[in-house]
Amino acid sequence: MWLPVRKIIIDCDPGHDDAVAILLALGNPDIELLGLTTIGGNHTIDKVTHNALQVLTIAGATNVPVYRGATRPLINEVVTAEDIHGDTGMEIHGYDLPEPEVGVEDEHAVRWIVDTLMREEPGTVTLVPTGPLTNIALAVRMEPRIVSRVREVVLMGGAYGTGNWTASAEFNTWVDPEAAAIVFGEDWPVVMVGLDLTHQALATPEVESRFAALGTSAGDFCVGLIDAFRRNYKDAQGFDNPPVHDPCAVAYVIDPSVVETVAVPLSVELTGALTRGRTVADFRVLDPSDCNTSVATRLDVERFWDLVIDAVQRLG
Ligand code: BDR
Ligand code: CA
Repeated sequence: MWLPVRKIIIDCDPGHDDAVAILLALGNPDIELLGLTTIGGNHTIDKVTHNALQVLTIAGATNVPVYRGATRPLINEVVTAEDIHGDTGMEIHGYDLPEPEVGVEDEHAVRWIVDTLMREEPGTVTLVPTGPLTNIALAVRMEPRIVSRVREVVLMGGAYGTGNWTASAEFNTWVDPEAAAIVFGEDWPVVMVGLDLTHQALATPEVESRFAALGTSAGDFCVGLIDAFRRNYKDAQGFDNPPVHDPCAVAYVIDPSVVETVAVPLSVELTGALTRGRTVADFRVLDPSDCNTSVATRLDVERFWDLVIDAVQRLG
């Protein structure tokens, strides 16, 4: 199936897997990355913004603008994930991260998201949030007309099964549940690429050796990321191979047939003492035809890694 080049905005908190998501978008010829917006999550807004600039520098994509977003969630205090992403938010082994060759734009991320969606042709820009949803929620509150202009929102976050940050909730939706509730509650197409799907995207030693075999700077960067991610995921959550969550959302935008989805009503739990931040999928609904939300269920693992490795190869 032929699809036109898709314009996307990645709203992210790099983050090992956010970094791979950015590389996938940059190296895939069917994607035009309009810009990166950052949000505190895996680490503070300062650190994840610095990491985003480093990723663009490694990829030689210094023309992609970076906009700094909200400094904290709507209601919650700031929460970061050092146990998974290390002290810098993008801990790495055996690779020297460069000093960024790009700077951050002056405009605030939320303002830029709104302006971009109001400027571009309606139905042409896909939002790909891979961190807490604060910026996207603020953008839709600032300018509700963006709802009908967005092509779709394809987000990494949530889970209809078990969570990872709590037994009930996935990290991104747990950090800012109110923002998630706003984003899931708007009348735009939302695809939730949650843990149920992303735990299938495991970076095995075989995947890692494919990156190493590229013999390129971007390939070595991925090896260094995966090494650190593997150790941290083993210590923190017992995984032998780390799940590389965020590029799954980009892969869906590139080729929806790589990710199976099911239309289902979704909502976010805000009040439960044990379940705050949980995304609830109501699979009881018999006719979800008028439902604007869907969840990702099954990943074509082989084609997914082919997409990622081809993209990284193209970056050299
Ligand atoms: C999500 O949380 C972050 O740690 C990752 O970058 C990913 O977006 C997985 O729960
Ligand atoms: Ca992320």
